[in-house]
Amino acid sequence: MKLGFIGTGALTAAIVTGLKSQANEPAAIILSPRNADIAAGLVSRFPDVRVAAGNQAVLDRCDTVFLAVRPQVAHAVLADLRFRRDHHVVSLIATLSGKEVAALAAPAERVIKALPMPMVASRQGPTMICPPDPSMAALFGRLGKVIEVKDPAEFDALSVATATFASYFKYLDTLHTWLKDHGVADATARDYVTALFKALASAPDTAPDMDFTHLAQDYATRGGINEQVLRELTAKGLFEAFAENLDGVHRRILGG
Ligand SMILES: NC(=O)c1ccc[n+]([C@@H]2O[C@H](COP(=O)([O-])OP(=O)(O)OC[C@H]3O[C@@H](n4cnc5c(N)ncnc54)[C@H](OP(=O)(O)O)[C@@H]3O)[C@@H](O)[C@H]2O)c1
Repeated sequence: MKLGFIGTGALTAAIVTGLKSQANEPAAIILSPRNADIAAGLVSRFPDVRVAAGNQAVLDRCDTVFLAVRPQVAHAVLADLRFRRDHHVVSLIATLSGKEVAALAAPAERVIKALPMPMVASRQGPTMICPPDPSMAALFGRLGKVIEVKDPAEFDALSVATATFASYFKYLDTLHTWLKDHGVADATARDYVTALFKALASAPDTAPDMDFTHLAQDYATRGGINEQVLRELTAKGLFEAFAENLDGVHRRILGG
């Protein structure tokens, strides 16, 4: 398998790092020359990673091609390229629809969208794929959890979840700051918050039959301090505001 990347930026670096950090990774990787520093860094760190002379040279030397340029330049970059019918095209460009990519990558017949997260670098995925594709599920499965969906509308809705990371860290930051303001040493507060939320993150896996509503109820002991925080934040409209905010992101992803 020869994997080519058009656009050698943060996400390409994460995928290549995740794949090539594993022993006996058989895929040969061909990178487009931009960004030169990132490409040179990957070539120096890993075996069987090369930089092509240009974008077309990547296509000419690979069977599977990942499109990893920013959406703003995608049309201009792809319009210049000659794809083959047998190219397996995997678009990572979040805001370009599957139909748009298929038109730009014609006559390639196998065109899918994938949405990996930068955590694939440490093989902690997850990656969404649409439509389902066994060979890409196997490849991204080496980098973490894979979620395959048939319906592009489902893919777009799931993409909204990826807009919540910064707010999640702001939530932890608020807690961390409060602990420090109340006399807890910086490192102690950080360690404790990190360990707590790591353990909470594994709760859905350890209780697979419980949905999130029931997990929230389970942790909100009647009359307890968890119930208090949940009740007060709910009364302030925090969760309603969050849901409205997700609607706004969804509209943006759909181009509205
Ligand atoms: N990062 C994420 O967490 C993430 C997650 C999901 C999806 N995505 C999607 O993945 C794509 C890449 O994201 P990214 O974070 O990796 O962006 P990035 O770090 O900005 O990488 C994009 C790369 O494209 C290169 N480039 C610019 N013009 C080019 C051209 N004409 N030909 C070839 N390469 C060119 C840039 O090189 P220069 O540096 O020289 O300009 C840059 O290295 C985006 O479409 C984004 O929507 C990203």
